[in-house]
Amino acid sequence: MSDADALHERSTTRVTMGTEGPVLIDGPVEIELPDGRIASSDRVIVALCTCRRSRVYPWCDASHRDRSRSERDA
Ligand code: FES
Repeated sequence: MSDADALHERSTTRVTMGTEGPVLIDGPVEIELPDGRIASSDRVIVALCTCRRSRVYPWCDASHRDRSRSERDA
């Protein structure tokens, strides 16, 4: 592996976007919230809530599944 490849591998953060549910980000991460607070996670993969229904926002707590289920049942 070249130095450039090694640097790219070290500095590149992968973000995975799905059609529903959270955005997955390679951790550890620090998230700056709109009010200026910083949320930190040391997890290897972090799930960020995109539905804003999570009780542990900005982290996903799987509450999006309830919305997906109720929208399907409607
Ligand atoms: S995306 Fe999972 S709780 Fe919001």
